[in-house]
Amino acid sequence: MDNKRIIIAIDGHSSCGKSTFAKAIAARLGYIFIDTGAMYRAVTLYALEHGAIHSGIVEEAEVEAMLDDINIDFRFNPARGASDIYVNGDLVEGKIRTIEVSNCVSAVSSIAAVREKLVAMQQQMGHKRGVVMDGRDIGTVVFPEAELKIYMTADAMVRAERRYKELTAKGDSVTLEEIYENVVSRDEADMTRKISPLRKADDAIVLDNSAMSVEEQMEWFLEQYNRVVGQ
Ligand code: DC
Repeated sequence: MDNKRIIIAIDGHSSCGKSTFAKAIAARLGYIFIDTGAMYRAVTLYALEHGAIHSGIVEEAEVEAMLDDINIDFRFNPARGASDIYVNGDLVEGKIRTIEVSNCVSAVSSIAAVREKLVAMQQQMGHKRGVVMDGRDIGTVVFPEAELKIYMTADAMVRAERRYKELTAKGDSVTLEEIYENVVSRDEADMTRKISPLRKADDAIVLDNSAMSVEEQMEWFLEQYNRVVGQ
């Protein structure tokens, strides 16, 4: 048995299945899974609900001024096999993945004070190791010393189709075109922002899952994991 609990950093493009992959890995290893995108989404939802975003325009100073009023925590939900996110004690898991939040989250996540607060929380959550954390800057900024770093990507249309299926299954009325546009524009915003842009860490391994099943991704992962922990 392996007693070496490591940090697994999963970064990559939006909607390429990072959370599904990270969640499956965490369940397999008995690790804690932390979806850092959910944290940026939770701040965005709060800003939307408290008037800091007007007609899609994010007022940075207003978001910054609210940060001390936003308390985020995760609580394990056995039915989902993952943790749900709460803001000031309210369950927001079901409200953070709408297209409205998706359209504003890149702007909110490019605010320095937002990143400072959330990165500090993420480092605190991972300090005991044994975590799988997914996001955009985990292997580069949050845990540059992570033992295993994976950079995930997939074809943009494949990603849009996956997200479209997810949202329409929930009853959201969206078009594939608007989802595709959101995926492409978020990639662009995430990769070109000044602070902690999405980029592959030099020591990350690339996983392009455009044509891979969940089972194939798990098989691929276990090979990488066994190589790192020396089994
Ligand atoms: O993984 P996601 O699509 O739920 O993430 C939502 C947004 O949050 C994404 O467009 C970029 C931002 N994000 C970030 O800047 N840094 C992270 N570590 C995670 C997400």
